[in-house]
Amino acid sequence: MDKIIIFDTTLRDGEQAPGASLNQKEKLEVAQALSYLGVDVIEAGFPISSKGDFDSVNLIAKTIKGPVICGLSRSLKKDIDAAAQALKPAKRPRIHVFLATSKIHMKYKLKKAEGEILRLAVEAVSYARKFCSDIEFSPEDASRTESDFLDRVVEAVIKAGARTVNIPDTVGYAEPEEFGKIIRRIKENVPNINQAVISVHCHNDLGLGVANSLSAIKNGARQVECTINGIGERAGNASMEEIVMSIDTRKDIYAGLKTGIVKKNIYKTSRLVSKLTGFLVAPNKAIVGGNAFRHESGIHQDGVLKERSTYEIIHGEDVGFQVEGLVLGKHSGRHAFSERVKRLGFHLSEKQLNYAFESFKELADKKKDIFEDDLRTIIEDQMRVIKAPLWQLLSFEVNSGTNIAPKSTVRLKKKETSLQDSSSGDGPVDACFKAIDKIIGIKGALEDFRLEAVTRGKDALGEVSLRLKVEGKVASGRGSSTDIIEAAVKAYLDAINKIEK
Ligand code: KIV
Ligand code: ZN
Repeated sequence: MDKIIIFDTTLRDGEQAPGASLNQKEKLEVAQALSYLGVDVIEAGFPISSKGDFDSVNLIAKTIKGPVICGLSRSLKKDIDAAAQALKPAKRPRIHVFLATSKIHMKYKLKKAEGEILRLAVEAVSYARKFCSDIEFSPEDASRTESDFLDRVVEAVIKAGARTVNIPDTVGYAEPEEFGKIIRRIKENVPNINQAVISVHCHNDLGLGVANSLSAIKNGARQVECTINGIGERAGNASMEEIVMSIDTRKDIYAGLKTGIVKKNIYKTSRLVSKLTGFLVAPNKAIVGGNAFRHESGIHQDGVLKERSTYEIIHGEDVGFQVEGLVLGKHSGRHAFSERVKRLGFHLSEKQLNYAFESFKELADKKKDIFEDDLRTIIEDQMRVIKAPLWQLLSFEVNSGTNIAPKSTVRLKKKETSLQDSSSGDGPVDACFKAIDKIIGIKGALEDFRLEAVTRGKDALGEVSLRLKVEGKVASGRGSSTDIIEAAVKAYLDAINKIEK
């Protein structure tokens, strides 16, 4: 079997998506999940871009064992130095160097001619090789680069020591057949190509990121760069789960090819990334959307009951998705709970398990039936607030109705002190947010607010995800409760705690 190397760039290109920014702890959490998912390479960030990015790459390099840990770098010595420094603790580091090669980029962005670009690319790769043997080079905007020049760059960087050459469709302009031909040409024309792995990195501006990646695989690419849920710059990057499941489902077409992805961890990882970035997954999103394995029409349901393969090409449970199975109730004990947590694929410490079990019991008092998605939500929430947050909710009261101006009183705890204030607002949620602002002495601007029911039924758990801006700093927050105002207040505090650390 030929292995397709899965290079995950959720933490670098994915995190470049407007509004997706993650803090260091969240990045580590995603990196851990990616390692459980079985990715081969984690592109952990762009170390020169900020101190925060440098520290996150460094922490991931120190903590995550297993996958190759990669840092991005322009073709500049100071970038390469920063990447090498951040990656120092990694067991298997990779420096990913890039430089644009298309006419448009060379003329308008870099203002350099072909000869100079070629020289800079070779110099950068040779310099990076002084720090580690695993070097990847990307000719940025490769799909719009003159074919002769692209082939020459690829040959030169391999000669300089690059072990992976990544062909990016930077602006998502390529079309599958055309992109496949580029890969085939490189594979057949570049004399030293057998000394490097051909990789591809496809953006989704025309909705073709996955199709282009798969076409490249058919034509000889053996590494794909992708992100969880397809998040990334503009319309995003090729989605990992779609590529992996295409290869797995269409074994007839991708004969002899496999990935190392642990399929049953796909859904869980998708939820985690969605939760932490605040980017909801569309219900109809392939593989990880809430409706991806649900059959609504009577004809389909009838068919599936008679024979699953009539309307199902993938079983939801294969990617860790269960269709609302009733799992536990009020009388379930800690043992049953802990077993279920394990079956859902969560790795909790004893302390985390205790917290999660307490939340489960609280929820079970309010809600008769606890579904698997309820369970996932409370576990995910507990995993994130295990360290006592700076601001904690003690209580809130709201007075709201058809002919009443909404008013709220909120009580918060900071360390051992409890503080209280009241406010009116445009609605009960706004009144609570304003009361919190008064207590903390901030002026929060809400950039996004979404409310979703986690499961069905009137007593469903409501989950709020929002994005908050306070004095130029932006953070996403999540909160869940059977009371949607409480869910909103928790989400607001979650965001504040990230900002006010
Ligand atoms: O899209 C792109 O070209 C990139 C490169 C840095 C690989 O993200
Ligand atoms: Zn990109």
